Amino acid sequence: MRNLVIAGNWKMNGSQTFAQEMREALDNAEFSERITTVVFPPFLAIHTMLGSDKFAVGAQNCYTEQSGAYTGEVSPELIADAGCQYVLVGHSERRTLLGETDQVVGKKVKLAVSAGLTPVLCVGETLDERESGNFKDVVEQQVVAGLKELSGDEVKQVVVAYEPVWAIGTGKTASADQAQEVHAHIRSVLNSAFDGAGDAISILYGGSVKSENAAELLGCADIDGGLIGGASLNSKEFITICRIAADSH
Ligand code: PGA
Repeated sequence: MRNLVIAGNWKMNGSQTFAQEMREALDNAEFSERITTVVFPPFLAIHTMLGSDKFAVGAQNCYTEQSGAYTGEVSPELIADAGCQYVLVGHSERRTLLGETDQVVGKKVKLAVSAGLTPVLCVGETLDERESGNFKDVVEQQVVAGLKELSGDEVKQVVVAYEPVWAIGTGKTASADQAQEVHAHIRSVLNSAFDGAGDAISILYGGSVKSENAAELLGCADIDGGLIGGASLNSKEFITICRIAADSH
């Protein structure tokens, strides 16, 4: 059985008050035991979210080195040492806005695993790539490059998130069929590259997931949870999505 994960990516939103309120709401929520709930606050709100028995915490990014003269960066080791269990790697906003390449993403994934973190490797095609028809190749290339430094054992520590760029923050979601098609492809790529390990790796869907579309998307055979952006900023909505995930999978 694969882990069913609902993760909230706050992006660069929130405040200390927001984090405290979210902490209280999630601590008081009833989550199904079938779900692993994770939140990804901005770095300076992580401390407010750590230590709950209801959810795990991750960072939204890490650097490609474990220490050194890299002003402003945060290493996977420090993220793990602070008490986080997860880290997002290669989110499309970082790829597009900050020029993160597949090579950088691969290095971060490797270092995150070495530090004992679970990297959530984010992949997904742009609208142009979807319309050109070669979106499966684009996603495959990102998956292979992102995991290429890992051994067969290490890869089992990774979560993959498929987030079509055209569906992030746009209100447009992939249909359940479109998402399932790419998820099944990612799983078969993982299975052939890592000797069947793909069947054990959780693949999350992300891109305008909300309570209205969660049941349809999260009910798909190869969708093992969601990476939720905008809708994770509302505690009620986020908790509802967690409940829908448990019911629909
Ligand atoms: P969204 O973001 O749910 O706001 O589309 C998802 C993500 O970027 O992780």
